[in-house]
Amino acid sequence: MIAAGEVVQRPASVVKELMENAVDAGATDIKVVVADAGRTLIQVIDNGCGMTPDDAVLCFERHATSKLASAEDLHHILTFGFRGEALASIVAVAEVTLRTRQADAELGVEVTMAASENKGTREVSCPAGTNIAVRNLFYNIPARRKFLKSDNVELRHIVEEFQRVALTRPDIAFTLTHNGKDIHVVKPAPSHKFRIQDLLGPAIVGDIVDIEASTSIAGLQGYIGKPESSRKTLGNQFFFVNGRYFRSPLLHKAVMKAYENLIPEGYTPSYFIYLDVDPSTVDVNIHPTKAEIKFEEDQILFQTVFAAVKEALGRVGVAGSIEFDNPEARDIPVISTRFEEYRPSSIPTAGVDWNYNPFDEEIRPAPGRAEETIPGEAREPYVPTGRFVDKNDNYGALFEDRTLPTSQILIVQGKYILTQSAGGIMAVNIRRAQERLLHDRFLKALTANAHVSQAALFPVQVPVGVEGRLLIEEHQELLKSLGFDIAPFGNDTVVVSGVPEGYSAEQGKVETLLADVLLILKDENGALPGVMEQGLAQKFAVLGACSARSITSPLEAQRLVDALLQSDNPEFTSAGKRIIAIIGADELEKRF
Ligand SMILES: Nc1ncnc2c1ncn2[C@@H]1O[C@H](COP(=O)(O)OP(=O)(O)OP(=O)(O)O)[C@@H](O)[C@H]1O
Ligand SMILES: [Mg+2]
Repeated sequence: MIAAGEVVQRPASVVKELMENAVDAGATDIKVVVADAGRTLIQVIDNGCGMTPDDAVLCFERHATSKLASAEDLHHILTFGFRGEALASIVAVAEVTLRTRQADAELGVEVTMAASENKGTREVSCPAGTNIAVRNLFYNIPARRKFLKSDNVELRHIVEEFQRVALTRPDIAFTLTHNGKDIHVVKPAPSHKFRIQDLLGPAIVGDIVDIEASTSIAGLQGYIGKPESSRKTLGNQFFFVNGRYFRSPLLHKAVMKAYENLIPEGYTPSYFIYLDVDPSTVDVNIHPTKAEIKFEEDQILFQTVFAAVKEALGRVGVAGSIEFDNPEARDIPVISTRFEEYRPSSIPTAGVDWNYNPFDEEIRPAPGRAEETIPGEAREPYVPTGRFVDKNDNYGALFEDRTLPTSQILIVQGKYILTQSAGGIMAVNIRRAQERLLHDRFLKALTANAHVSQAALFPVQVPVGVEGRLLIEEHQELLKSLGFDIAPFGNDTVVVSGVPEGYSAEQGKVETLLADVLLILKDENGALPGVMEQGLAQKFAVLGACSARSITSPLEAQRLVDALLQSDNPEFTSAGKRIIAIIGADELEKRF
């Protein structure tokens, strides 16, 4: 009756299914024990209702479910599972030992399975409840085993699934341990809010506000992030329906629409939205892992979510906290997936041209003058493909003058450097110049194994959550080559003691910096090699240029201009924005 596809995709899927079974069994205490990111062991121990010896053998059969009395029941399901598919799928690809006892039985039963075969059933004495251990996942499918990602990636998925289940039931105690170390230990909590705090850290509570709504088709309750906190979060977007996590691109859009103009493009607010709907109006089984849900009344639900979020945002009076109207700020390419839109389609080759001679007077043919592109508007940005010289701007002559006396350098409003050029005045946009230089350095580090030099910081501890810590651990080598010194510290904290040279080393900025670094890593995680380097270099360059120390002395200005002119692409940033403008003598003449 139900077409269930692939249930077990990775260790995290097993964690999810076993946790859901334990919740359905009425457990009040659920322990998840994982070794080697789930490759060698995933064990879930609960104090729920347990199974009879007969059921303990039967539960591994396909479509063995105790949760359906008749097909009618399908429409009134409130529990997590009713396909009778999960355990059957798991035993097909792993070695499984199940121990279970019902509270009123004297003895329990132990069933051992491997590759869907029963390897033995015996009586044992064991605590009431169920203890199921899944070993050597995919041992009989080497191709699948090979397909698994690094331990950190797999563990991050496990943590994610664990959090999703733990967030649905604050009344249940949960623990997650990995290789003997506690990752999460949460006691029963009086409300969702306390559970959120226990799982994601106390800082989050100050950043969220309550939402609530009730219509004829749905009750809605939960929390949403204040707009100003949106950049600080890393994937805390949760929808739950009738106590179960689900993904909903549609309802996500409803939330995002309510935040429109309150947060910069590409930022995502946190939300924890718990919906209650009549079970007969939802179909959870459209997706093999039950992660997506079909609602009968999805347009009404969309409106409900939109209105509830909007109302809550109005209540906290967010109008005053928006600083994104600043035209200068809008100019900053926002760190986000929207980068896709103006990411160069070809990847420029990296770094410094060692054969480059600044005194080289060769005039290369100039492509047509590029229009300045504005992120978000430009679908096909101009991509500089190499150093070129515009004959009219007379750059060749300009290079000859590069050792200008610093008295001939002017800094305007901290934003522009003006120097003399042969044909008139050269204006350099400081932030964009810094972005170009950082970009070149980062790209070289990522493609040519050249480390970016580092500015040491007084070490700062930053809480980043378990997922953040794992993400940093996973990318430690990469971060190091980019000039970051960020080391894991305990379970959910890291210590920052160095940043790439050119970055601001101001202490107060470290926390925001790290949030941005995590966003970038998360964004780029799935990108293809080759594309990823370009994306990373660009985003880290923008990040660094935004925070960079301001240029105040003519000497610094001169150094910046010198360095810029050595770049392969001094005229444009990697996002295609103009860095250098020449104001010709004729243009000056016109003004008089
Ligand atoms: N921890 C547990 N405690 C008690 N009974 C369990 C436990 N885990 C599984 N069972 C029993 O085994 C049956 C099969 O579990 P399985 O997860 O394969 O299917 P399901 O939960 O019914 O449906 P789904 O495939 O949607 O998860 C369950 O219906 C339940 O009766
Ligand atoms: Mg199940």
